[in-house]
Order: sequence, then C-alpha cells, then structure tokens
Amino acid sequence: MSIRDELQSTIDTLVQPGKGLLAADESGGTIAKRFKTIGVESTEENRRAWRSLLLSTAGLGEFVSGVILYEETLGQCADDGTPLPELAARHGIVPGIKVDAGKIALAHAPGDEVTEGLDGLAKRLDGYKKQGARFAKWRAVYNVSDMLPSRLAIETNAASLARYAAICQEAGIVPIVEPEVLMDGGHSIERCAEVTEAVLHEVFDALHRHAVTLEHMLLKPSMVVAGKEHARQAPAAEIAAQTVCVLGRTVPAAVAGIFFLSGGQTPEEATANLDAINRTGRRPWPLSFSYGRALQEPPLKAWKGQAANLGAAQQALIKRARLNGAASIGRYDAAQEALAA
Ligand code: 13P
Repeated sequence: MSIRDELQSTIDTLVQPGKGLLAADESGGTIAKRFKTIGVESTEENRRAWRSLLLSTAGLGEFVSGVILYEETLGQCADDGTPLPELAARHGIVPGIKVDAGKIALAHAPGDEVTEGLDGLAKRLDGYKKQGARFAKWRAVYNVSDMLPSRLAIETNAASLARYAAICQEAGIVPIVEPEVLMDGGHSIERCAEVTEAVLHEVFDALHRHAVTLEHMLLKPSMVVAGKEHARQAPAAEIAAQTVCVLGRTVPAAVAGIFFLSGGQTPEEATANLDAINRTGRRPWPLSFSYGRALQEPPLKAWKGQAANLGAAQQALIKRARLNGAASIGRYDAAQEALAA
C-alpha cells in the first residue's frame, strides 16, 4: 500500500459518525496523579491492569474508533498474553501513540512552555509502527494570562507541531496535532477565544510551510472556555458558538476531523459542550471527542484498583463513551444522562 493510501485508510477508520477517541496516554507523572485520587500506587502492574480493563471493555468499539496509548502500554499484554495494541485492534479500535516527550519552560520566556521530542522521532516511529501504532499525538501547551502566551511561544510550538506532523506523514502515521490552551487561571472566555485564534492561525501557517497534508491529519484542540477561576462560566451554547467561530476562522475545511480534548471539564460538561458544538450552524469538519479525564474519571472511581470492580468500571466507561458518541452527532440529550445512570 502506498503511504498515501495507508494514511487515508487510517483516517477512514478513525473518523466515523458517532465515534471518537479514547486518550489513555498519560505519562508516568500524570497517571500517578490520577491513581492517587483512588489511593492506588502507580506500579507497572497497576498501569497494565487499568489499561487492560479499558481496552477489554465489550462494545467499546461501537463508540471509540481509536485509542491513544503511552509508549509503555504498546509493549504490555493482557492477562491472556494478548499484546494490548492487538486487544484494541480486535475491538475495532485503532491503536495510536503519544510521541512527544513532554513540556519544559521556554528559555527567555517566563511562564511559557514548549514541547520536546523531535530528536530521533522518525526512528522511533518505525518501532511504534512495528508494535501496531497507526497514528500519533503531540501536545503543545499554552498558559494564558494578559501577557501569555508570548509570540515566541506561539511560534515555537507551532513549528514543532508542524515538524512532528510532517515526520509522521512521511512514516505513514496519521498525526494528531494537539494545541491545548489551558483552562487554568482567571481569564475570560473572550481572552481564551483571542489566544486560541492566534494559536491555531500560527499552527496552520506552520503546517502549510511544512507541507503537511491536511486531509491526512486530525486536530485536537481545546474548547473555548473561561479560565476555571473566572467568575462567569459560560453556558454550553456560548462555549459552542465561540469555539465554532474560532475554528471557522482558522481551520481549513480540508482537515479530516476535529477531536476535542476535555482539559479538566467534568465528564458531564465535556459531553454537553460537544453536543452543543454539534448543534451549531456552519461546520465543514466532523467534530468529535478525544477525551482522557472525561472518559476515564468515572470508571477510575468505580475501579479503585480492585479486580472485583472490573465490571462496574467497564460499565461506567461504556456509559460515557455512548453519551459522547451521541454528542458527536448532536444527539445527546441531558435526559439520557439520567436514563443511562
Ligand atoms: P484530557 O481529555 O484529560 O484533557 O486528555 C486528553 C489528552 O490527550 C491530553 O493530552
């Protein structure tokens, strides 16, 4: 198969009506933080048990077309010896891999951060592909204040995202480009809109300069929302209108799909906002979910690290996946939440 056909076939499998992605690619530090909330230690065995539980959930493939894994998970197996990427594939879920190496402070730009991980990336992709990965993810993070992010941070992160995406496409791996404008802080929704517009504009400029084929990539943005500490939290309809307005101004129609991150919204908020977004007017791209916390929080709470809670945890996961699947085509009704309880 040509690289082009390979990329197209992965896109066709990932972008399906009523389906989104499960982000299960927490780095060592982040998964330890999540496990701490349920009093579970982050050992290799516990991480394997948790991620096997997620990927062995019956029926998950009905609402989830792809899963983003962490490098360690690519090499782990379920209890019966099935490699976890293969387990996902058996459920009709395409395995993907987080390839960035995390963020560090951007030199000479106090408060800004930049993502590392480009060195040796092409070679690493070869290995990931042999382990079953068909797509990749790279996350850039933008802190927001009256002054942040700086022009330098916007330009530096855009250049890295674009280089990463180009390297992935050359390797036949579909890149997910993730610029996350953080919800931390007291900024207004208008400030978030302003920053997101500047960030996305720069990202697509860089993608163009690096000759990235927009039809063979996915965008994973944050929604346009007020900072968590801001006094006024906008209702879903306003978040939807602001988000679709900013995306409309910056994201070419050729992009294969937009899969939002949840970024610290509650599971219910993330579903309601996605639904509202899918009920707005002009939308040239499919708009779905690529949630980490908003999909994993309820099953994590049900699991508590106990094998006996496996069934309850998988039920909690399938419930959120089903509701988000409905929201991705604008068919979520808050009443469903009660019905599915
Ligand atoms: P959240 O949905 O928890 O923001 O995670 C998505 C993700 O992949 C972050 O990089």
